[in-house]
Amino acid sequence: MFAIRNTPKLVARSFSTATPQQSKVAVLGAAGGIGQPLSLLLKANPRVTKLSLYDIHNTPGVAADVGHINTLSDVTGYSAKDQDGLKKALEGAELVVIPAGVPRKPGMTRDDLFNTNAGIVRDLAQACAEVCPKAKLLIISNPVNSTVPIASEVFKKAGVYDANKIFGVTSLDLVRASRFIGDKMGKIVDVPVVGGHAGITIIPLFSQVKGLKLSNEERDALTHRVQFGGDEVVQAKDGLGSATLSMAFAGARFADSLLRANAGEDVLEWAFIRTDLFEKEGLEYFSTYVKLDKNGVKKILPLPESISQYELELVQKAIPELKKSETKGASFVA
Ligand code: NAD
Ligand code: LMR
Repeated sequence: MFAIRNTPKLVARSFSTATPQQSKVAVLGAAGGIGQPLSLLLKANPRVTKLSLYDIHNTPGVAADVGHINTLSDVTGYSAKDQDGLKKALEGAELVVIPAGVPRKPGMTRDDLFNTNAGIVRDLAQACAEVCPKAKLLIISNPVNSTVPIASEVFKKAGVYDANKIFGVTSLDLVRASRFIGDKMGKIVDVPVVGGHAGITIIPLFSQVKGLKLSNEERDALTHRVQFGGDEVVQAKDGLGSATLSMAFAGARFADSLLRANAGEDVLEWAFIRTDLFEKEGLEYFSTYVKLDKNGVKKILPLPESISQYELELVQKAIPELKKSETKGASFVA
């Protein structure tokens, strides 16, 4: 059974909750739809002492704006206009959060973003490998099922790869699943979500939620809603992008988990990481339950024994699609 974890408190009281922890967090793509609210939430997190914002344009404005919030962290904005802007943004970073890249429009799949975003993630990962190879990378840019293998291959090529430090952020799937089940149960509970971050590779494990009873029809409908929740937002935004605010919330929550682990807390999270869980199937990356410590992933937990047959079948169906995406990502760098 998966543990139930409460959403951490992210909002600091001004000047009252300074902690001894020193953490520089860099956001790449900070002026975008996700980047701006994510930067806001990170500025409100007392564990962040330096916030470094990088984008190809408009970063000075975002940094000046966020920088007026009266929490103790320093905020600096860097843009591509400064030739060394990216390097400066990354120097000394412990966490690098990457929401840089284009979002979907109605009718597109996440894989349709590959042609643009693969190169962006490759180049940003290259800079991280050179400047802050020991930082933890939190990759939000889609398609996550390919961009995590891309960043990993870049780190391998640079000779600085540590699988425990490269994370695909799938937290929004958990936030959605929790919210949709919350509607049904009348209270917010954690719902594990495993697999990947695209369509049928997103697998909510409703079997692990204590006290939740679903008919087969309800289970099918809720599974579909979690798998295609991103499309709901893309359609509602009608050409103006995809989820930004809920993603910022989810990304800030995941960043906070890593910062707590850095500070010595035992933290459990779900993330898309390199794992041997499906070695027999030839699959290298999978989103699953992980224990975190200051070095990143400390332990990868297997799928729960009490997983339902229905969910196991969803995992089997996801594997070929996940393999295709990871091969596409890895080949792009090769
Ligand atoms: P956006 O277009 O609003 O913002 C993207 C930002 O990236 C822009 O400000 C742009 O200038 C910047 N950018 C582009 N190339 C860059 C580079 N080389 N270096 C630095 N910055 C660069 O898009 P958004 O809505 O913020 O979405 C960003 C990405 O996040 C998309 O790929 C989207 O699909 C993805 N996303 C992922 C999840 C998830 O759950 N993992 C959820 C939502 C969105
Ligand atoms: C999401 O799940 O909302 C994101 O991956 C963005 C998208 O393209 O749906």
